[in-house]
Amino acid sequence: MKSTADFTKMKKANEKIVMLTAYDHPSAQLAEEAGIDVLLVGDSLGMVVLGYETTALVTVEDMIHHGKAVRRGAKNTFVVVDMPFGSYHGSADRTLMSAIKLFQETGANALKLEGAGNVIETTRLLTGAGIPVVAHLGLLPQSAAVAGGYKVQGKTAVAAEQLIQDAIASEAAGACMIVLECIPYQLAEQVSKVVTVPTIGIGAGAGTDGQVLVFHDTVKYGNHHIPKFVKAFAEVGDSIVRGVEEYVLEVKSGTFPSEEHRFTMKENELNALYG
Ligand code: KIV
Ligand code: NA
Repeated sequence: MKSTADFTKMKKANEKIVMLTAYDHPSAQLAEEAGIDVLLVGDSLGMVVLGYETTALVTVEDMIHHGKAVRRGAKNTFVVVDMPFGSYHGSADRTLMSAIKLFQETGANALKLEGAGNVIETTRLLTGAGIPVVAHLGLLPQSAAVAGGYKVQGKTAVAAEQLIQDAIASEAAGACMIVLECIPYQLAEQVSKVVTVPTIGIGAGAGTDGQVLVFHDTVKYGNHHIPKFVKAFAEVGDSIVRGVEEYVLEVKSGTFPSEEHRFTMKENELNALYG
């Protein structure tokens, strides 16, 4: 399994880090088989696999449930679990309790926190307790209701400078990696230069040290909203519909199950049964 030190080495060597979300056992297994460097159990699971409208409805229990499944499916891959909405903005004690619970019960390698400001102190708290932290700056889905929606961040010089300072502060507080969501590529490049830990972009251009995408977006599985910055590399949703349609057809027509899919009894048992 790669370590946070390995990811920093990859950044130095200009070797891209590839992160992908995973929410369950098969997606984790498939992603590990495909050579993903880091798996993220993102709270995007609220929308992607639970059908919620926002990530604000996702609980610590949800994250644990899915995090455990991913860990079991990808034992040799670095796994990051999102701290969900409301689990790290109360007292330090409560934050630490949620973090320890998430970390221990899922067996994650790191936890991810959205934002800077007070979250910088929280990053220090968790790393001080021995929990590696991934920072998440730019578009912050957990605060979308306050920010007024999902918009590209850091587009003005003032906002960009603030984000650069937040990235520097996140690293100084101990963050081992920084996710940059939906910011101009010029800003993402700049952030990637000023910090020594790897930056992982989503909707942030090609200049970051790595990329992250949502599993279901990447292979077109499900019909949730697909943002502009996503590229679909496969169309499994279509093959699933075609496969399920075929199943329906074969059952209705009596073609399935056929002889090869059934079990039988020995003649003498059959005679004993019917006399
Ligand atoms: O929850 C998630 O999937 C994320 C990524 C989009 C970075 O936080
Ligand atoms: Na997330």
